[in-house]
Amino acid sequence: MKIIIGSNNKKKLKELQALLGEYGVELVTPAMLGLTLEPEETGSTFEENSLIKASAFAKETGLPCIADDSGLEVKALGGRPGVYSARYAGELATDGEKMDKLLGELEGVTDRAARFVSVATYCAPDGTVIQARGECPGEILLEKRGTNGFGYDPVFFCTEAGECFGEVSPEEKAKYSHRGRSLALLKEKLRPILEDNNA
Ligand code: IMP
Repeated sequence: MKIIIGSNNKKKLKELQALLGEYGVELVTPAMLGLTLEPEETGSTFEENSLIKASAFAKETGLPCIADDSGLEVKALGGRPGVYSARYAGELATDGEKMDKLLGELEGVTDRAARFVSVATYCAPDGTVIQARGECPGEILLEKRGTNGFGYDPVFFCTEAGECFGEVSPEEKAKYSHRGRSLALLKEKLRPILEDNNA
């Protein structure tokens, strides 16, 4: 069974290959098919944006697609930046600039609870849609720590790991991460479809 993923990110490809390998799934990226489609993320929830991406690629290629949408929700900011996490400090802002803006907005704020959220969506050309959500609770630190990971990792203290994501290895982060969780749950939900195709 061939599945397209809604991203050209090599790390996401590897993560999914490791997860779905046992079912003999062949994963391809848009770039591997010469596709330059960039669906506009116009939704107001992770579920909506994840489905926008997955259905656009399924429609364009006639293949089932797995896509994910993720971001950071900060309690004191009413859940912002949320679905706008990538664009929080402008389209061209660096990760450093995004974190500086966040630390600025949270200056003097004592309740620093936050969570990373990821929603993974499987969408098939026949209209089948399966979604799974993963969350990773934590707190926004007072300043950056470490240089590992990406995005907001250096200001995110993961409660369950008891460490800042900017200071842990990718393997350690994967144990707790929102994306790892949404993809593992999606795999469970997809099991009947994948086993059927493998039979
Ligand atoms: P998207 O899921 O590619 O639309 O982008 C989500 C944005 O949320 C990223 O650009 C990051 O800024 C942020 N984000 C999502 N997951 C993580 C993570 O694991 N660590 C740090 N930042 C993240």
